[in-house]
Amino acid sequence: MQTKILLPEDRIPKQWYNIIPDMPGQMAPVVHPATGQPVSPDDLLPLFPMGLIEQEVSTQRWIDIPQAVLEILRLWRPSPLFRAHALEKALGTPAKIYYKYEGVSPAGSHKPNTAVPQAYYNKIFGTRRIASETGAGQWGSSIALACQKFGLECTVYMVKVSYSQKPYRKSMMQLWGANVIPSPSNLTNAGRAILAAHPDSNGSLGIAISEAVEDAATHEDTRYALGSVLNHVCLHQTVIGLEAKEQMALVDDYPDVVIGCHGGGSNFAGLAFPFVADKANGKNIRLLAAEPISCPTLTKGVYAFDYGDTAKMAPISKMYTLGHDFMPPGIHAGGLRYHGASPLVSQLLHEGVIEARAVGQLGCFEAAVQFARTEGIIPAPESSHAIRAAIDEALQAREEGQAKTILFNLSGHGHVDMASYDAYFSGQLENYEYPSETISESLKHLPKVNL
Ligand SMILES: Cc1ncc(COP(=O)(O)O)c(C=O)c1O
Repeated sequence: MQTKILLPEDRIPKQWYNIIPDMPGQMAPVVHPATGQPVSPDDLLPLFPMGLIEQEVSTQRWIDIPQAVLEILRLWRPSPLFRAHALEKALGTPAKIYYKYEGVSPAGSHKPNTAVPQAYYNKIFGTRRIASETGAGQWGSSIALACQKFGLECTVYMVKVSYSQKPYRKSMMQLWGANVIPSPSNLTNAGRAILAAHPDSNGSLGIAISEAVEDAATHEDTRYALGSVLNHVCLHQTVIGLEAKEQMALVDDYPDVVIGCHGGGSNFAGLAFPFVADKANGKNIRLLAAEPISCPTLTKGVYAFDYGDTAKMAPISKMYTLGHDFMPPGIHAGGLRYHGASPLVSQLLHEGVIEARAVGQLGCFEAAVQFARTEGIIPAPESSHAIRAAIDEALQAREEGQAKTILFNLSGHGHVDMASYDAYFSGQLENYEYPSETISESLKHLPKVNL
């Protein structure tokens, strides 16, 4: 009856797993928003340091993790894998449920796994300041922490609705030395344009990205950092799945289904990508991304070229998208309110290698409460989407009388999200499903790409 499956510190992976050489089919090029032509590494230099650009396009299957990065990752890695005995018992399921817990990082989520290498590659490149955006504040606090570790300045554009819903995340960023600006702001052209059209705008990740990209592109000493979506971000997160595989082997187990919540794709990718290779080699395993019905990128979006941001300044990628001017409602899983998705995750979905499911906000909070009352840990509202899907898989196993092994990513804790739990307990939350007509409207504005 082992509950915590731990690896010693010297078992932190020394290399990241790059899925690019193992992708089914050719990857679509990334397109320059101004020229409509494929971007070259040099085009990306105003935004990213060369070390990260090289990783973005690398076809090398294993990439060494620099020593200076490993030394910081050691603060929380390897993260624990738990067997959810109490939850299994409460559900009366024959399924075995495991979860990889990323809330043990200083910022409380998986995001520092990539914030630290991103700050590192910027530092050795000579960047002085990083501009970034944040939804719920998990990414912003992670990049603030990482910048602090490497002596970089940090400016974070924070989606306005989260700025007021999650004031303590703002305080965490300030504590780690960042300058936090509610977005849309009047500091950038992108922000001013949105405020002129929608003075009461709640903001969105797409808008905050535009502001941070503009800030970086207009300051020579500044580079941009993104907490999800990009290939190098998914790459950095593979430490999660690599450790989980080793931990499951320690208890002689292997998952039938692997689940992660989906915002831009990085925590799902981090856990699932190391298992994709096994699937390609014949393993019978399902890989499931769980997203909110209020921002149903993978389940209701289209697979098409689109801008990564609202103001059309970020590169155009082929991905599942709801349209770059899609305005998600102010649900409490702020980190899942993004119109697009990782091109790698999108292609795997398109090719049928992975699956996606949309879940409602109320069902997610119900699952989070059941999880907290059995397993003890208070989940981040984002992570509760993975818990909902895992519980549903376990209940299905009970109905079918079939044992199965479920592994999910508990991507963060919810200690700074108690206002969301308060709103749930006081009956203020609803299951907002985005109207199909509104999605069709924003999909009319996709860019035309002729390659
Ligand atoms: C705790 C947590 N989980 C998941 C996500 C979603 O992001 P991604 O899909 O990149 O993992 C976020 C984003 O902010 C988050 O804070």
